[in-house]
Amino acid sequence: MTDKEKLFLCNQAWAQEKLDVDSDYFTRLAKDQSPDYLWIGCSDSRVPANEIIGAQPGELFVHRNIANLVVHTDLNLLSVLDYAVTHLKVKHIILCGHTGCGGVKAAMTHSNFDLLNKWLRNLKEVYFHHREEIEAIQNEEERLDRFVEINVVEQVQNLAKTSVVQKSWQRHQLPLIHGWVYNMKTGLLKSVVEMGHDSEIDPIFKFDSFGF
Ligand code: CO
Repeated sequence: MTDKEKLFLCNQAWAQEKLDVDSDYFTRLAKDQSPDYLWIGCSDSRVPANEIIGAQPGELFVHRNIANLVVHTDLNLLSVLDYAVTHLKVKHIILCGHTGCGGVKAAMTHSNFDLLNKWLRNLKEVYFHHREEIEAIQNEEERLDRFVEINVVEQVQNLAKTSVVQKSWQRHQLPLIHGWVYNMKTGLLKSVVEMGHDSEIDPIFKFDSFGF
């Protein structure tokens, strides 16, 4: 059996399983989506967004990239964010990092990853601003995992700096932004930071009132 044949076989079994429980499952799901959550996570194959929080199809709008970064010029992420917040009106954004993140680890080295350098540069800037705290940690694994947490805080703040989020905060007082870290060794989530419509952000990142 080829890899492709295996995947198609698994797909057929999965679809049948759903239909066995509810014969209208796909007909209903195909009509519309109104998820309450936007998930922004790492592309790592070991951190499957839906699975680790037990979310069913239709419950989670998902964006994943290397090291769960919110880069203010990333049209892909901004489009996902705008659609989720402005049109789907999600109540929560979950920004989830994970322990042992390869992207975060790579950014701590001096290795040349060619094209990937440009993406990892965003992480190096985070490291630069928190160098003292990170480098004070002796244990290598703990140092990496603290950098993972700091990165989550920074990326949550990057979300709060967008006009998309600020406009929605002004209009609906939503979404609530959660910064989490998934521990790959235990399978458990840890809450690191939370930001909402009443959170403080540095004035330089605040936009004028949005006229509605
Ligand atoms: Co990762």
